[in-house]
Amino acid sequence: MRLASGWKAALFAFAVVCSAAAAAAAPASERIDELVKTRCSTCHGPTGQSSNADFPKLAGQNADYLVRQMFNFKTRARKSTEMEKEMAGLTGNDIEDLANYFSRQQLVPVARQDKALTETGRNFYMTGSPERGISACAVCHGDMARGARLLPRVAGQHARYLAIQLRRFADQSRTTDQMLMHSTASKMTEEEIWAVSYFLSGYD
Ligand code: HEC
Ligand code: HEC
Repeated sequence: MRLASGWKAALFAFAVVCSAAAAAAAPASERIDELVKTRCSTCHGPTGQSSNADFPKLAGQNADYLVRQMFNFKTRARKSTEMEKEMAGLTGNDIEDLANYFSRQQLVPVARQDKALTETGRNFYMTGSPERGISACAVCHGDMARGARLLPRVAGQHARYLAIQLRRFADQSRTTDQMLMHSTASKMTEEEIWAVSYFLSGYD
């Protein structure tokens, strides 16, 4: 008898733990679904594969980098009127869950037709310009341009978005933690910015 009730108590405790876990997990993902549908998807698309080149693709981006940028928008360390508004009311957990959701989605690069421009961009990406003191992008972002942790993936991103960000690093209007990017981008010509952005948008 004592054995049986002990067993029942254990089973009951187990059931309580299970239902508590289920109750905690379900609303979190429903909330993320809801946030993605009602907010992020308007500009970034439902899976982070945005179709407008002014809005960055978030699919396949490194989760740590996404978290950091969202906090940067929230604190206005990185200025964007649109994104500051979007971050209002989101908790730290929402930000982490959103970052994990988008980083798990598949990023699809665009097909690029201009072979000569792609090659110019690739060479610049891989070697930079030693004579003008420009480091190879690959040194930090990697040969596959996937970055790591706080270093963003740049492969497969929209060319227009990449070029806009490079110009902002150059004139220091993107103000977050970027002396490394400033010293690189400020020495690039407009042709180099476009070639490297063109190459990266089709790089898989
Ligand atoms: C009204 C359009 C709009 C909506 C809605 C929107 N964003 Fe953005 N988002 C932008 C723009 C524009 C940028 C680029 C900001 C810049 O640097 O000028 C951006 C940038 C970002 C970045 C930085 C990406 C990178 O590569 O650095 C992240 C992360 C992000 N958005 C996440 C989200 C999430 C998550 C949501 C939903 C909660 C969301 N955004 C909703 C317009 C939007
Ligand atoms: C010394 C390391 C370093 C080098 C070299 C470097 N980057 Fe970066 N890059 C970074 C870091 C770190 C960030 C993230 C900055 C931040 O957190 O805002 C970044 C951010 C970027 C972004 C913004 C991505 C986004 O999603 O908003 C672009 C675009 C970029 N780099 C392109 C390049 C290109 C092209 C080159 C070569 C011409 C290059 N980088 C060279 C370290 C580097």
